Amino acid sequence: MRVLGIETTCDETAAAVVEDGRILSNIVSSQVRLHRRYRGVVPELAARAHLQRIGQVVEAALREAGGRPDAVAFARGPGLMGPLLVGKMAALAVGETEGCPVIAVNHLEGHVFAAELCGRLRFPLVTLIVSGGHTDLLLCRAPGRYRLLGRTRDDAAGEAYDKVARMLGLSYPGGPVIDRLARGGDPAAVPFTRPLMPGTWDFSFAGIKTAVLYHVQGRGQPLTRRAVADLCASFQEAVVETLVRKTVAAAQSHGVKDIVVGGGVASNSRLRAAFTAAASEQGLRVSIPPPVLCTDNGAMLAQAAWHRLRWGLRGGSLRCDPGLGFENWASRA
Ligand code: KG4
Ligand code: ZN
Repeated sequence: MRVLGIETTCDETAAAVVEDGRILSNIVSSQVRLHRRYRGVVPELAARAHLQRIGQVVEAALREAGGRPDAVAFARGPGLMGPLLVGKMAALAVGETEGCPVIAVNHLEGHVFAAELCGRLRFPLVTLIVSGGHTDLLLCRAPGRYRLLGRTRDDAAGEAYDKVARMLGLSYPGGPVIDRLARGGDPAAVPFTRPLMPGTWDFSFAGIKTAVLYHVQGRGQPLTRRAVADLCASFQEAVVETLVRKTVAAAQSHGVKDIVVGGGVASNSRLRAAFTAAASEQGLRVSIPPPVLCTDNGAMLAQAAWHRLRWGLRGGSLRCDPGLGFENWASRA
């Protein structure tokens, strides 16, 4: 079954065709240059840019894949309302012209299934979704069956990266820049507290972010390049250690051997290395898709939709919902 996935939740206009787990095309048009000077995504500009680009992006994905889709999927949330509506309209238009069903998926569920585009997933699994808007830890017993174990109580991990980058005068999005600068810094230079919050699977990154701010203000003079690199490495180490330790502990506590990591922050080089090392030490398997499938893309949505189509779930709501989360996403049961 060939599924066209259309992604427009935030600042990437993306479309892809996936046939039974194999990517036939994957087109991503990033708006990052448009939003960079505002150091964050401007919803109105994002909606207009999606509108300008969506036609070409979808056409390119269909052309590259060759042949017609059997179904079209779009993300109904979470995301920005204007951008979500653009994706939905594009999906309905293709569904109408191709005469195939249109199915709505949860953007976060897409991040879970990005890993399946690189190899079969084994269930049950524990999954960590770390993006610009979410940090969710889930127990997944089968596709569509999720139990939200914990989530961030304040900033998402990607949001903390973006805000810390802003404090340091670095460009948007902050994650890739901090990732790069941290490679030349000392992760032990500034001993930030790890917010492990025993007794809960929830996360909190606002404290580390504020600690970085106090550290910058406390210096009273512009930071040297060396000091910026040390700060990036120390901040990153605290975030990565917290994410890895809690995810591994959640898997062990639920008797689960498989871990899946997804979302934009999963493209972080240190997070990937730390997960791989922790998994082999603890005898766990970890699946992290390549960076292009960690950040927003249409292929992950097509893959999530494929499962729903296989269960015959075509009639779900198509209503866009900016606040859609796992807690209100229909389980298979
Ligand atoms: O999943 P995504 O593309 O969009 C959302 O659904 O939010 O994630 C975007 C987030 C941004 O906060 C960005 O800074 C972060 O992912 N990110 C990274 C890296 N690449 C992107 N964070 C850390 N290290 C990276 N290499
Ligand atoms: Zn995302």
